[in-house]
Amino acid sequence: MSKIKNICCIGAGYVGGPTMAVIAAKCPEIKVTIVDLNAARIAAWNDENLDNLPVYEPGLDAIVAQARGRNLFFSTEVEKAIDEAEMIFISVNTPTKTYGLGKGKAADLKFIELCARQIASVAKSDKIVVEKSTLPVRTAEAIRSILDNTGNGVKFQILSNPEFLAEGTAIDDLLHPDRVLIGGDSDEEGQEAIDALVNIYANWIPTERILTTNVWSSELSKLTANAFLAQRVSSINAMSELCEKTGADINEVARAIGMDSRIGSKFLKSSVGFGGSCFQKDILNLVYIAKSYGLDEVADYWEQVIIMNDHQKRRFAANIVKTLYNTVSGKKITFLGWAFKKDTNDTRESAAIYVADDLLLEQANIAVYDPKVEETQIHADLDYLDTRRKKENRKGVTTFNDPYEAVKDAHAIAVLTEWDEFKGYDWQRIYDNMKKPAFVFDGRNLLDGQKLREIGFVFQSIGK
Ligand code: NAD
Ligand code: UGA
Repeated sequence: MSKIKNICCIGAGYVGGPTMAVIAAKCPEIKVTIVDLNAARIAAWNDENLDNLPVYEPGLDAIVAQARGRNLFFSTEVEKAIDEAEMIFISVNTPTKTYGLGKGKAADLKFIELCARQIASVAKSDKIVVEKSTLPVRTAEAIRSILDNTGNGVKFQILSNPEFLAEGTAIDDLLHPDRVLIGGDSDEEGQEAIDALVNIYANWIPTERILTTNVWSSELSKLTANAFLAQRVSSINAMSELCEKTGADINEVARAIGMDSRIGSKFLKSSVGFGGSCFQKDILNLVYIAKSYGLDEVADYWEQVIIMNDHQKRRFAANIVKTLYNTVSGKKITFLGWAFKKDTNDTRESAAIYVADDLLLEQANIAVYDPKVEETQIHADLDYLDTRRKKENRKGVTTFNDPYEAVKDAHAIAVLTEWDEFKGYDWQRIYDNMKKPAFVFDGRNLLDGQKLREIGFVFQSIGK
């Protein structure tokens, strides 16, 4: 296949949008079209006001401004973009199944299959199809089967190119990745397809960081990477509970073990529990795959990472109730942060949702301030759990645009996201406006406990 001139990406979400924007910015000679069924999302990507982009990522607006309208396009015309492209990235969502076989564990591949069928029906020339979404190992086999059975003589190559970006740092991760992973077939045509994709990334990434493997290794490496990262968070969180019982300090323990170069210092921050759209989904998927091969011990080993994470969220909420004299009924508890981590507007699987749900069961009044999350999203997150009627969620949770308003007359503050701005607040002013005793439960190890105690707060932090 000659040099790629036209790329189509199906799925304009947290991965498709930023990833393709960076490819377009770095490869001005390639036309990149991102398509999505969601017309509102595409309209937001095309909004002249860059503050309205559907994904918030530091630096994303500048990259979009550079390439949009030049060689970067957002469209709902899926078939046209597929037809024109030599290379098609599939970047659609792969959530946990909510029905049927594998419910609650397996990845739901209906969106992937739909893409494959659409590509098969539209394609009139040879195409390279790139799996960008995170998929169960051996998904490429199913995609190949759909594509190869069209009978229209078009040849397809399938590559696996999982994405390792983390939200909040997506642009930096895409510009300077630790590695790019490309899995493909080892025959001549497979190698040509791999080279075509390597050549795109080589425009800005040193070739020694572009790793090529077989398709199955690439698919499984993505699930493995997320499982290992999540496992570190659950491991440090398990230790945080032991610290609270023994007088050890989790930050000191993390620092001490992180200086061992074999362990390394990253992903050792104890928290109220990991969130985000992928860690839980991908581990559950891994558990399901292992079980489907009869590997029960492997499945149980990884499932424990999720069990620990659920425990961490639940015990954070339970501790608030216990500390507030075993009742939070009618008490105002203010959440600082709702997003699953700082510097993103994404709330999927955020620990805040589950802590709020537990406290609502205890009839607390919850006030929320998050610098990037909209009220409608917060209500939608709680409604999705389906624990109580929508009306009751609206009654139990109030959102604020001003943090000082949010904490007024509160009995307690819970820090759920590690937004930097929380550290710079006027904590004396906050204290003065709260009910006494004024409690702070820091689920992120973010605030200066000594300073807050000097002001008069009763302060507790995870792992201390
Ligand atoms: P997302 O939900 O933000 O975006 C997916 C988009 O695909 C949606 O806008 C949806 O409307 C669109 N879509 C679904 N089916 C479609 C179809 N048939 N045609 C056109 N559009 C369609 O999801 P995301 O967070 O971008 O994740 C996408 C994939 O990337 C997942 O497999 C995820 O596991 C993986 N991933 C995500 C991240 C992350 O940080 N979010 C990082 C690495 C990998
Ligand atoms: C994660 C991975 O880091 C990415 O490499 C991967 O591409 C992505 O999943 C994916 O496949 O979707 P992301 O979920 O965006 O990225 O964010 P992380 O920085 O990994 O944080 C995940 C959760 O773990 C957050 O809730 C975060 O607060 C928590 N966390 C992380 C901790 O509690 N402690 C830590 O030390 C690190």
